[in-house]
Amino acid sequence: MNFTGSNILSVEQFDLDSIQQIFATADRMQPYARRQKRTKVLDGAILGNLFFEASTRTRVSFGTAFNLLGGEVRETTGMESSALAKGESLYDTARVLSSYSDVIAMRHPKSGSVAEFAQGSRVPVINGGDGANEHPTQALLDLYTIKKELAYHGHLIDGMHICMMGDLKYGRTVHSLSRLLALYKNIRFTLISPQELAMPDSVLAVLDQAGHRVTITDQVSGSSDADIVYQTRIQQERFTTPQEADQYRGKFRLNSEIYTKHYKPNTVIMHPLPRDSRAEANELDNDLNQHPNLAIFRQADNGVLIRMALFALTLGVAEQVEKYDCEVNWYSDKRNSY
Ligand code: NCD
Repeated sequence: MNFTGSNILSVEQFDLDSIQQIFATADRMQPYARRQKRTKVLDGAILGNLFFEASTRTRVSFGTAFNLLGGEVRETTGMESSALAKGESLYDTARVLSSYSDVIAMRHPKSGSVAEFAQGSRVPVINGGDGANEHPTQALLDLYTIKKELAYHGHLIDGMHICMMGDLKYGRTVHSLSRLLALYKNIRFTLISPQELAMPDSVLAVLDQAGHRVTITDQVSGSSDADIVYQTRIQQERFTTPQEADQYRGKFRLNSEIYTKHYKPNTVIMHPLPRDSRAEANELDNDLNQHPNLAIFRQADNGVLIRMALFALTLGVAEQVEKYDCEVNWYSDKRNSY
């Protein structure tokens, strides 16, 4: 795939070769994220970081990734503080903001909104999550994490068993991740959710067509050979009322006791974050924080590498990153820590 100038809107754009290209580029970003060296390859470039829905990790890691490549970040957060609140169309917003930026990352609560925005943009647009639809950069960082974690245990993605648990209906991360995993061979999916929050048929059809084995259940038991357990938050913002979400909160929890009882000792624990740590939800308990298989913070760290790779590729500088290297002048503990 030629990434230069392209939008990143959906995981449907990718095949195994393009994923490999992104991952190989992400690997080369490690020394910059670890502050072993800097690059000025995007010196003078501007990222328009538009987040019309709550975000911590995705928004800040897009910004950090761009800064680590030497570029500048201009941020707009919240619908109320933008002209969208005055009735401006996504098309007009895109026409204007794209002339202020070289690339745009965008999150918006409506499915399909980022693709609609991209039609008005003159610069590449990267989808940071559009409603319950897709979250392609999260799926790439999840897949990158899965690949690394499984390699550590001597396994491949092909043939693995993944359990996805929680809100599979509204959770865009599991939609995008499942579609990406469908490209691999012979994967076993165990999809654990309340019936009302089951994985959408459109995603199941993709898995079915690719010949993967899918078990749909509302029971946690029966997954003791899972390689990955991917927990999700009840997406309360997608329900009509908070009370509607309340009835599902806390239904499928993962804590040390449940993990030890239902999973094998090296099952990798993932969650896109944020985890809902309120007592009534607490889908991923703090008592697993020190567990070596808890990969949630490695996922978040990998997000910077993947987003750096996507910026370098879409702006056509992936092969020039090292040419613009310079030194880090300050002390940084990160150089040796991960
Ligand atoms: C996810 C999202 O926004 O879809 N968070 C993220 O980007 N890491 C998951 C969530 O909010 O539950």
